[in-house]
Amino acid sequence: MNKKTVKDLDVKGKKVLVRVDFNVPLSKEEKGKIADDTRIKAAIPTINYLSENGAKVILMSHLGRPKGEANPEFALKPVADYLENFYGGQFRFIPSPEVVDEKVKEEVSKLEDGQIALLENTRYRAEETKNGEEFAKELASLADLYVNDAFGTSHRAHASNVGVASILPSAVGFLIEKEIEVMGKALESPDHPFVSILGGAKVSDKIGVIENLITKVDTILIGGGMAYTFLKAMGKEIGQSLLEEDKMDLSLELMKKAKANEVEILLPIDVVIADKIEAGVDTEIVDIDSIPEDKEALDIGPKTAELFADKIKDAKTVVWNGPMGVFEIKEFSNGTNEVAKALAESEAVTIVGGGDSALAIEMAGLKDKITHVSTGGGASLEFLEGKDLPGITAIEDK
Ligand code: 3PG
Repeated sequence: MNKKTVKDLDVKGKKVLVRVDFNVPLSKEEKGKIADDTRIKAAIPTINYLSENGAKVILMSHLGRPKGEANPEFALKPVADYLENFYGGQFRFIPSPEVVDEKVKEEVSKLEDGQIALLENTRYRAEETKNGEEFAKELASLADLYVNDAFGTSHRAHASNVGVASILPSAVGFLIEKEIEVMGKALESPDHPFVSILGGAKVSDKIGVIENLITKVDTILIGGGMAYTFLKAMGKEIGQSLLEEDKMDLSLELMKKAKANEVEILLPIDVVIADKIEAGVDTEIVDIDSIPEDKEALDIGPKTAELFADKIKDAKTVVWNGPMGVFEIKEFSNGTNEVAKALAESEAVTIVGGGDSALAIEMAGLKDKITHVSTGGGASLEFLEGKDLPGITAIEDK
């Protein structure tokens, strides 16, 4: 990696502004509690490194999409409570509806070496998502150095990542370093066989990824709602299954491209069907040629899961993005769980590209058995598409 990292900075006694991605899901049952702390835990190594090396650490993040105004629903208080619990007196929450104001500046100036502070949701300010110069300057005025460790937000060009990087000396944190090293290696010099599993609802969401991977992988396994557009384009009857009619031609083109690149594409050979997407509904497993007109395919079937698992077993590099079915509902979760298990059992370098597939791995309790589970949803997708991520591009080169 050619970007400066925290280790290239002399942080002792310095105020270091750190962009983290604490956009975490909040609990629906228990108000003010965090439902999944993966993203916070993933940022701890950088925070600890800075603190232990004598920096005054000023954390900033967005949470949700408060549309440019202060809104208690999106306050970072639950994250602040979490950090307070974790760091005790070493931590301070410095919230302001303006994110930065005179009071915040005063509080920040009182921080001691090794202390850790958190600002309020950067998206309370409308300038944040527009990469507004004034807001970037206000944020930058709080610190001497800037570190970006918010991989999940690095596909956005906002004031708190791209803006501040153009003002302060900058570096990436350990989380971003790891994300781009592991995923970058898989894209640039993977060990073969390289198998990619793609799922999720729409072909349109995955076009960029397929086009980028088609020149790199040996096999693409396609499941999830997107598979049915491919199958329909190939002349199969898909009943009421998800279809993007306007993407049928493109699906055929992608299949052709794959063939030209000697990439094998495998689609479901059997599926789980039902009348509707609902827990407790009656389901049936049928071969791909037998989907009744009035039913919907909502998961891959066991034969497909076995076929996919066999391919994963023989692979040396595996990249997975997108669930195989409506995995949030138990009746349609088997295919996704079987793929998760196959990845966990594999000896390959296994990479799970964020979002729903990361959640499925987490729900299956298999996270420790995967080489790398990305903290990025949209960001990891764009990385796999081969796009530059502005939040990382903005950081100084070594
Ligand atoms: C994410 O959860 O993908 C990131 O935190 C970015 O959030 P956003 O899609 O609201 O910009």
